[in-house]
Amino acid sequence: MNASLPSDWERTLKSQIAGRYDRMARDGSFAHGDRDRLLSDGYPEKWARALPRSISDTYSGCGFAFSGSQLGETRVVVDLGCGAGLDCVYLSSHLPPGALIIGVDLAPEMLFLAQRALASMDFGRLNAIAGHMERLPLADSCADLVTANAAFNLAADKGAALSEAFRILRRGGLLCARDLVLDGPLPSEVLSDPMSFNTSLGGAGEESDLHQSLIQAGFQDIKISDHRPFSMVQSVQIRALKPNC
Ligand SMILES: C[S@@+](CC[C@H](N)C(=O)[O-])C[C@H]1O[C@@H](n2cnc3c(N)ncnc32)[C@H](O)[C@@H]1O
Repeated sequence: MNASLPSDWERTLKSQIAGRYDRMARDGSFAHGDRDRLLSDGYPEKWARALPRSISDTYSGCGFAFSGSQLGETRVVVDLGCGAGLDCVYLSSHLPPGALIIGVDLAPEMLFLAQRALASMDFGRLNAIAGHMERLPLADSCADLVTANAAFNLAADKGAALSEAFRILRRGGLLCARDLVLDGPLPSEVLSDPMSFNTSLGGAGEESDLHQSLIQAGFQDIKISDHRPFSMVQSVQIRALKPNC
């Protein structure tokens, strides 16, 4: 685990993020959660159409992270910044029997919704953990797959979050995520707004920096693909492998 203590800036940022997402979970004010958005973001149509509204409406991600992924051998998945658990629900119906899903989020009310969503789908192997992705309370090499949807962009330290994802993956394990990258400079009113980080846009970085951070964390076979417009930035799919040796 990353042992350094959070700075005052990080504490303030985290309390704003937790406050915002807890509020969203309590009053149901998910910005773009709905079935049409799931479909346009690339989620499989049959699955999305069968999803209860109470779950599809909580979607806060930036795209479908698992296109082209073989999940059949996966025993343990960790979803970083799992929110209300929409991707955990997707995984619950695509993993082999007995597989465990660990959802990590710093907003307790989101974790409550994630647990409720999985319970409503009769899936009892979600371990919902209150934690920070920059300092994961998880053992080394415990996961076959790490995912994160629109979450790394909110990390106070993206390098630390990616290093933690690498640490908890077993050798040969896969990082399969969606995140935001810049599509040109952001307007000055966004850059000067202290809240823009906590609403995701301000946390989007250059794609080349993301690629470099993945290399620095130790990943190989890195692919950043499927660029899609997302507000003023772009959503991308990230796939990266923890090498076998
Ligand atoms: C944009 S939402 C995405 C939620 C979910 N992945 C989805 O696709 O619906 C980002 C989530 O990440 C969580 N989060 C933000 N920063 C975090 C951090 N440093 N550690 C853990 N969770 C974090 C927020 O509380 C929020 O639930």
